[in-house]
Amino acid sequence: MRRKVIAGNWKMNMLPNEAMEYIETFSKLVKDTENEVILCVPYTDLFYALMGAQDTNIKIGAQNMHFEEKGAYTGEVSGKMLKAIGVEYVIIGHSERRQYFAETDETVNKKVKAAFANDLKPIVCVGETLEQREAGETEKIITSQTRLALEGLTDSQVKNVIIAYEPIWAIGTGKTATSDDANNSIKAIREEIRSIYGEEVSENIIIQYGGSVKSSNAKELFETSDIDGGLVGGASLVPDEFAKIVNYK
Ligand code: PGA
Repeated sequence: MRRKVIAGNWKMNMLPNEAMEYIETFSKLVKDTENEVILCVPYTDLFYALMGAQDTNIKIGAQNMHFEEKGAYTGEVSGKMLKAIGVEYVIIGHSERRQYFAETDETVNKKVKAAFANDLKPIVCVGETLEQREAGETEKIITSQTRLALEGLTDSQVKNVIIAYEPIWAIGTGKTATSDDANNSIKAIREEIRSIYGEEVSENIIIQYGGSVKSSNAKELFETSDIDGGLVGGASLVPDEFAKIVNYK
């Protein structure tokens, strides 16, 4: 059985003191969970979050990274830098980065490779727009994003990727995909991975759902056959609410 992995994506929210207070409260609420718990925080909170999460079951992730290790890339942060302070996870190719910061399937692939080169676990986001959905292109888009993101990785690397299926129309809108819809899209992603990397990899890879996950819909989503947890934005900003999602059972 695959484990459930539940990750919070704070996006551009939370000051260091707020992060510390959050983790103090939140860590007590999730200490008994069997699920994997990750908080993906802004760069400026990483160090504080790592300190606060010491001796807890909470793992810390970043929300982006550059694919080069170092160099003249003003304003960027590399995988090597993240690893050096103890970060374990990194979100790559979030739709907001694809939409507002010119992230492409090609840069996503480079970043995923750079994450592995630095021993970071990538959470790779894929998802269709409303227009693409209405044109009946959902499956085509999400399977191609998945294939391109993973190109050139070994089977054992792919097994350690986390994919987050996040329909763009469901992010921050309060609209959630129905659990059947989300599960079917995730099945299509798993099938794509099976066709390239085989049964063992596809049965082991973690594929999350993201897009307006809340405590009121988490159980229904996470108890489907193929959804292995969630990537949670808005609802991860409040410790009580996010803890309810982590402890959804
Ligand atoms: P949301 O965001 O939960 O606020 O919809 C999810 C995400 O963007 O990862």
